[in-house]
Order: sequence, then C-alpha cells, then structure tokens
Amino acid sequence: MKTPVRVGLIGLGFMGTTHYRIYQAHPLARVTAIADVDPAKRRGDVSAVKANIGEGDNTQPLDLSGLKVYEDGLDLIRDPDVDLVDICVPVYLHHAFAMAALAAGKPVLCEKPLARTAQEAQDIAVAAQQARVPCMAGMCVRYWPEYAHALERVLSGEAGRVRSAAFKRISPSVDGNSWRNWFMQEALSGGALLDLHLHDVDFIRQLLGMPRSVTAFGVRGIRSDHAIDHVMTRYDYGDDSLVTAEGSWAPPKTVPFEMSFLIICERMTLRFASDGYRILHEDGRVETPSPAAPDMPTGWHVEIDHLLNALSNGRAPRMSLDEVVEAIQIVEAEAESIETQQTVHLSSEKEHHV
Ligand SMILES: NC(=O)c1ccc[n+]([C@@H]2O[C@H](COP(=O)([O-])OP(=O)(O)OC[C@H]3O[C@@H](n4cnc5c(N)ncnc54)[C@H](O)[C@@H]3O)[C@@H](O)[C@H]2O)c1
Repeated sequence: MKTPVRVGLIGLGFMGTTHYRIYQAHPLARVTAIADVDPAKRRGDVSAVKANIGEGDNTQPLDLSGLKVYEDGLDLIRDPDVDLVDICVPVYLHHAFAMAALAAGKPVLCEKPLARTAQEAQDIAVAAQQARVPCMAGMCVRYWPEYAHALERVLSGEAGRVRSAAFKRISPSVDGNSWRNWFMQEALSGGALLDLHLHDVDFIRQLLGMPRSVTAFGVRGIRSDHAIDHVMTRYDYGDDSLVTAEGSWAPPKTVPFEMSFLIICERMTLRFASDGYRILHEDGRVETPSPAAPDMPTGWHVEIDHLLNALSNGRAPRMSLDEVVEAIQIVEAEAESIETQQTVHLSSEKEHHV
C-alpha cells in the first residue's frame, strides 16, 4: 500500500470542491490543507458555489475537521504537510501561486488555462522545467473519456486523414456563478474565449498540431464586461481540411450545457454529442464505445488519477506545458483576429500536421 500524496488545495469554489471530492474518494490522496480568502469556505460552507456543468451537492457543508485551514495560499505552500499544491483560484491568480509552489519545490496541479496570458504560462513552464518539479495544467478535456478515445483513434492513423472537424462548447451563462463574479471580467478571466473555448483549442492542437493561421469571429459583452462571450474560429492547416470550433457562454441560464465533436476522417467519422458517442465507419459499421470507467466518469477523475499515480511512482505526469502555452497562443491569435477582422498567422516553425 503506497503512502497517500498529501494535497493542499488553494481555492474551494466550483473546481476546488470538485477536486476535493475526487481526492477524498481516492486511495492515493489525502487532503491535508485548504486555503481560501472567503471565510465561509474556510468553515466548509460551500453553499454559494455554482457551476455550469456537473455540480456536486454544495448544500451540505464540507467536513474540514482535521485539515489545516489557511486564508493565504502562500502559507499553505509553506506547510511541510503539503506535498502537492492544487491551484483552483481565479485565473489571474494562477501565475503567482504556481510560481511560489514551484519555487518551494512542490509539484503543482494548476487548473486550466494554466495562466491568464501565454507569457505567464510560459514563465510557469520554464520555472517547472528549471526546478525539475512536476507541474500539470488541468486540461481535463485531454482526459475526458470520449475525447481521449477519439484522439487515440485518430492519432493511431487508423481513421485516415482528418477531412473536417467541428467542435462545440456551449455553456449557459456563468454570470453570477463565480467568486465576486470574476468570470465576467475580461482582465481576470479572459472571457469565454480563454476560459471555455481553450479546451477545444487545446484538443485541436493535440489532434492536428499548430495551425498555420486562424480566422475568428466573436461577440463581446453579451454577458461579461466586454470579453468575447461567443467565438467561432476556422483553423487553417494549409490543406483542404475544414477545422472549426465554436465556444460560448452567451446563452441564458436555461440552456443546457453542450459539448460535442464531429471529426470526419477518410475511413471513419467520430461523433460525440448529447445523444452519445459513435464511430461510423465508411464500410457501414457503427461502433458505440463506452470509454468511461464506472469509477472515473469524467476527465477530472482521470486527470487526478493520472497525476496521483505518477507522483506515487516517482514519475512526472504526462503533460507538456509547452503545448498548453501553444494552445493559449492560438487563443490569443483568435482574439487578434476578432479585433482586426483579419486572418492571423502563427509562427511557421511551430505548425505541424498529423
Ligand atoms: N477544468 C474545468 O472543467 C473547469 C471548470 C470550471 C472552472 N475551472 C477553472 O478552475 C479555476 C477556479 O474556477 P471556479 O469555477 O472554481 O471559480 P470559483 O469562483 O467558483 O472559485 C474560486 C475560489 O477561489 C477563492 N479565492 C479567490 N481568491 C483567492 C486567493 N487569493 N486565495 C485563495 N482563494 C481564493 C474564492 O473564494 C473561491 O472559493 C479557474 O481557473 C477556472 O478556469 C476549470
């Protein structure tokens, strides 16, 4: 029996409570400390926590007895009973806490999008590499069972070349969901473009590499101050493929959360939508895979399980932070494309096509 990883969790909002519950149920983890600036959260009262997807039961308080409870995340990072620092605070605070944890030599799980800007994300990637400390970004869609399965099937070469791929991530409005409504402030969250759409951008980057250019359309300020609340982008790979992604948190709260993909390849089409996941072969065969393990229904479970297993076995988790930086660079190119109403080219040495 391995000694559990002692986890310190900074930020007990939607993602923090989600991670907390996953650690509590995991044999390789023991949460030893939490930090939050909100006194209610420090008492375990999470009744104000809201989410757009997969909300746990926050009406019941969390039992934090036996845990060290801090107001300042830096005190948690200094705690000798914390081996792994899990950062679930608003995006604009990721850089400061991630850099402090890495400077203290502690492995980090930092929620997506790793940082508010590509430059800040790059700082974290360099710091982790120089300190030789494992650092993982919470790019949970890479671990989401259907997405991970589809990625593997396409990257194996079995599906043939991607001819067309369309991704969608449409959330009901998250206005009022976050601590002091930080999601709605572009300077703090990066809007739906960074906070939500990045998941699909990162997936496209995993699937096809860096695009040559992006052409994006977007609408600002439907829900937020003046952030891009709805985006639609074409990613150009210098061939005849059509690769697009749409992301939005503009619809009213009554609209259900939707995430989907349709990847049409030479020999098969992979489709994930609210009616399930299917692989449709050109010869007429239809597969209905169920890649989710019963005890790991979401990418959050798989991601944390992967990290805990890696740390327990003295290995670094499989995650290139450079790729996360590149995904944020693509998002920033999309913002520029929306601003200038022009196609924006990405640096040619980074692009590649599978
Ligand atoms: N992977 C996913 O699917 C997913 C989904 C939602 C959110 N997220 C990410 O998780 C992170 C947190 O988002 P959320 O939805 O949980 O937000 P939230 O507003 O629900 O929670 C943020 C928490 O951080 C606390 N906090 C604020 N400032 C702090 C500080 N200086 N020190 C300590 N605690 C502080 C707040 O009190 C609150 O409890 C963000 O990076 C967000 O992008 C990821």
